[in-house]
Amino acid sequence: MRSVFNNKVVEEYVEVIAEQADVLVKQLNKKTDTGDFDVLKFVTACTLDIVFETAMGERMDVQHSPDTPYLRARHSVMTILNMRFFKVWLQPDCLFNLTSYAKEHNDSIKLTHQFTDEVVKKKRVEYEKNKHNNNTDGKLKAVLDLLFGREIEFTDEQLREHIDSITIAGNDTTALTIAYTLMLLGQHKDVQDKVILEQKSIFGDSKRGANKEDIPQMFYLERVIKESMRLYTVVPIIARNIDKDTYLPVADVTLPAGTGCVVGAFAMHRAKSVWGPDADEFDPDRFLPERSLDRHRAAFLPFSYGSRNCIGRNYGMLIMKSILSTIIRSYKIDADEVGPLKMELLLFPIRGHQVRISKRD
Ligand code: HEM
Repeated sequence: MRSVFNNKVVEEYVEVIAEQADVLVKQLNKKTDTGDFDVLKFVTACTLDIVFETAMGERMDVQHSPDTPYLRARHSVMTILNMRFFKVWLQPDCLFNLTSYAKEHNDSIKLTHQFTDEVVKKKRVEYEKNKHNNNTDGKLKAVLDLLFGREIEFTDEQLREHIDSITIAGNDTTALTIAYTLMLLGQHKDVQDKVILEQKSIFGDSKRGANKEDIPQMFYLERVIKESMRLYTVVPIIARNIDKDTYLPVADVTLPAGTGCVVGAFAMHRAKSVWGPDADEFDPDRFLPERSLDRHRAAFLPFSYGSRNCIGRNYGMLIMKSILSTIIRSYKIDADEVGPLKMELLLFPIRGHQVRISKRD
């Protein structure tokens, strides 16, 4: 599946992203000059629309209709998963199955599977009908379309699993990073001014959507996003099973095969030994190439590291740059400190992503 997420493919999705970013800016309009509000809800609806359309080729329009049985079921599965993660007594299936959560969990999983299965079936029929016909009328090829007709044919069940993992892994991570970045821009007006300066050099005063030529020019915005991912690592720990004895030379310990371990990405990103005494400060220029030379390649791992790292990292970066560019050209952002954090599989601020916005002329 990794080959599907190459740069050429994801660049084709810029128009979908720009279109949904434009809807988001319109939705945010009702929050102009109204004081604090939690921006994550708005951004999540937008990223859901983008990830669904580009993964499955189906338009969901969550931004206008956020309450559907499918979305409720997804939410319920994630809530229960999170609860089991922290409540050890709910982890053994024999105990979990005695609770009312088990039924809710199983019913919700069934419903989400049914939803994706129907999309896969429909798309397979379309694929079979058109496979000898090269003329697809310039229609966007979603990830699912690209997974049909490969050398090793995927079963419908495998396709459903791939599509579900993309829509689960790709949505909240991207939305959360955008929301943290907005909060940081709201606190650091000097950085916000520099982002705007760069945006003006690309777009002038235009509010048009970002295209594939614009995105690679957003060098400063990319540093801002990276610094935001460093300080607020939305996947704060990465869990692994050790499948062979692994010696860690720095700590002089061997992790024995068969044990579980976690990599503390959040802790690594705040380590003063790696990032210097100002590790807790927001400084996007740490990611300038000349300041990154001596840094270990695994010091920055918001997308994990190694052979099982994030397959959607370039796509995620594209989505984040496009959406932030569109928001920031329309609104001035103001925010207070992020404050205390909590981990619910991903990293959330306890008070939510509170920002204030006003129109930018
Ligand atoms: C800011 C955005 C994102 C962040 C921070 C992020 C982070 C991560 C991390 C840390 C992992 C490894 C998790 C683990 O092994 O426990 C991962 C895996 C994954 N990500 Fe992302 N991700 C982002 C965006 C995306 C997007 C946009 C997609 C797809 C549309 C995506 C699809 C995936 C998939 C399918 C995996 C599993 C890969 C595998 O198991 O081999 N991610 N991501």
